[in-house]
Amino acid sequence: MPIVTSKEMFKKAYDGGYAIGAFNVNNMEIIQGITEAAKEVGAPLILQVSAGARKYAKHVYLMKLIEAAEADTGLPICVHLDHGEDFEVCKSCIDGGFTSVMIDGSKHAFLENIRLTRQVVEYAHDRGVVVEGELGKLAGIEDDVNVSDEDSSFTQPDEVEEFVTKTGVDSLAIAIGTSHGAYKFKPGQKPRLRFDILEEIQRRLPGFPIVLHGASSVIPELVEIINHNGGAMPDAIGIPEEMLRQAAKMAVCKINIDSDLRLAMTAGIRQYLAKNPAEFDPRKYLTPARDNIRALVKNKIVNVLGSDGKA
Ligand code: G3H
Ligand code: 13P
Ligand code: ZN
Repeated sequence: MPIVTSKEMFKKAYDGGYAIGAFNVNNMEIIQGITEAAKEVGAPLILQVSAGARKYAKHVYLMKLIEAAEADTGLPICVHLDHGEDFEVCKSCIDGGFTSVMIDGSKHAFLENIRLTRQVVEYAHDRGVVVEGELGKLAGIEDDVNVSDEDSSFTQPDEVEEFVTKTGVDSLAIAIGTSHGAYKFKPGQKPRLRFDILEEIQRRLPGFPIVLHGASSVIPELVEIINHNGGAMPDAIGIPEEMLRQAAKMAVCKINIDSDLRLAMTAGIRQYLAKNPAEFDPRKYLTPARDNIRALVKNKIVNVLGSDGKA
């Protein structure tokens, strides 16, 4: 199975009421942990690479590692640019073998977002690559926005048809209350997503794949392990798994997860080094880190995304 686009994956996911996991990758252990888990349960995968990941590991290393994972597992894998901020980075990833790119024009005004996204779509589609666009802004609790600001940062359903038609994007990331990182809600605040907005978008764009960023659940057990082994993340809160299951049954076909992978890896390393303070062989502490990622991803696929057996 070669590296593929997400086109077929999304069609099947939409019709089947499940979602594809889009996991951020930065190094070999993360790629192995994710792909070995997906192989065990027969799940299609999107491996996504941010600008920061390309800077850290270099594009060519990540591409070759993903090709190795594809050869090792035989899984359908889509290689995706996460949060491309301009045309140049999208072009560089398309020219460098990615099968999918995100152009994140959400910080621009509506018309400029359309213009930029359209420019990327034209270049990508001519080369068989698919494109994710974004409408609406993901807020973080650190932004300390008031309620009316928060409302205006959510995706406006009355803009989605024009955006999708004029840009030609293949999928759309929306803002309904998720946010990036491990601190998604204030302590004591009840996690809430705007399913009414998602429902309205689905009504206006029937059959069209929607993407949820900032979808880590910030698994409490992992935070606890980190905090018991020298860490300090007291107020980390994520998206409840039940909400992700609900979104996956609706139009959400791609669920982005990075922070949970970071927590799994860090918990494995901290726990190992706390028990073995004299150890200095990276293979020793990276083995439990990779094991934790494998277990986390398997659980996401089977118990949250529902993409097991769909490869
Ligand atoms: O949405 C952002 C992803 O978690 C990637 O984070 O830019 O630190 O690689 P990064
Ligand atoms: P999390 O920080 O919730 O894992 O979100 C990741 C993401 O949206 C990557 O684009
Ligand atoms: Zn994101």
